[in-house]
Amino acid sequence: MRSRSTEGRAESPVATGRPPRSGIVTGESRHRGVPMSTTTPAHASGTFAIGGDLPVHRLGYGAMQLTGEGIFGPPADPDQARAVLRRAVELGVDLIDTADSYGPFVSEQLIAEALHPYPDGLVIATKAGLTRTGPGEWHPVGRPEYLRQQLELSLRHLRVERIDLWQLHRIDAKVPAEEQFGVLKDAQDAGKVRHVGLSEVTVEELDAALDAGVQVATVQNRYNLVDRDSEDVLERCEELGIGFLPWFPVATGRLAREGGPLDEIAREHGATPAQLALAWLLHRSPVMLPIPGTSKVAHVEQNVAAAEIQLSADEVARLEQAGRAAAGG
Ligand SMILES: NC(=O)c1ccc[n+]([C@@H]2O[C@H](COP(=O)([O-])OP(=O)(O)OC[C@H]3O[C@@H](n4cnc5c(N)ncnc54)[C@H](OP(=O)(O)O)[C@@H]3O)[C@@H](O)[C@H]2O)c1
Repeated sequence: MRSRSTEGRAESPVATGRPPRSGIVTGESRHRGVPMSTTTPAHASGTFAIGGDLPVHRLGYGAMQLTGEGIFGPPADPDQARAVLRRAVELGVDLIDTADSYGPFVSEQLIAEALHPYPDGLVIATKAGLTRTGPGEWHPVGRPEYLRQQLELSLRHLRVERIDLWQLHRIDAKVPAEEQFGVLKDAQDAGKVRHVGLSEVTVEELDAALDAGVQVATVQNRYNLVDRDSEDVLERCEELGIGFLPWFPVATGRLAREGGPLDEIAREHGATPAQLALAWLLHRSPVMLPIPGTSKVAHVEQNVAAAEIQLSADEVARLEQAGRAAAGG
């Protein structure tokens, strides 16, 4: 397996009418305070500066899977959940994605228990805008007073005075979008959040937020080798230098089945299907910031190691062809 080079991966976002909010910093670590190791596996994924001034290694970690079943309540083994978070950081992960609704609050509380006081350079991204009425139940609530309450609770649970990246989990169709965008702007103006992002948006919604004056630093949409419905949103993010966090990144469905195309390529290269799915995402775009989620230390180690896989042009073509076939089949 060849190592992924961290050089030569940075491309300037294509110029557009709007100035880029964020940018690729290249593979060099430029973290605040204590210098970050340049030898961790996550370092190999290269670096992206969220909002232009918050550099993170591109391969992050999603903390949704750390809660109880149905993303509700505490995990069966909280010690293991905290161990996963600490291992991710040891491996160089410095972007952790969570949300008020994971648990609810359980994921944020586990992050604080495991990692506070936070190491310099660790970026924690959280969200608000989905409320929870039971396991597996998610309801958009975008009323400004609710979003403001959830921001206060996230600050408290994460034990921070300012949230690095606060994302609107969903635009609530029952509430005027401008009101929800206004909460993002106000929170930033008040210094309670450093950068803001959106989740599950269309190009039109992203543009509407930008037109409303929201300094969108990131977009988080479902996107993986098999599900590329958000390709147009990714392209818009590339144009504007906005970070794109693909959720459900290791989803490969039947592509990964034994003897399937992904399994075949994985075997040839001594990797796992999940690792190939992540390596493909990192290859796909310099604004891509995958946040694979797992509740297991072994899986977090495997996922971060995917940063070191460099795919050849032929492998990329085969993976994409297999992904298209699986999506259409
Ligand atoms: N914005 C949104 O609306 C939204 C929605 C969903 C998720 N998210 C965010 O995106 C993150 C990732 O999404 P996700 O957790 O749904 O999907 P994912 O990361 O693609 O997949 C997670 C699933 O894959 C398994 N897995 C992880 N690594 C593996 C490996 N190396 N080998 C085999 N299985 C592996 C996990 O099980 P194990 O625990 O057994 O490893 C878990 O069941 C979440 O943590 C969350 O932060 C955002």
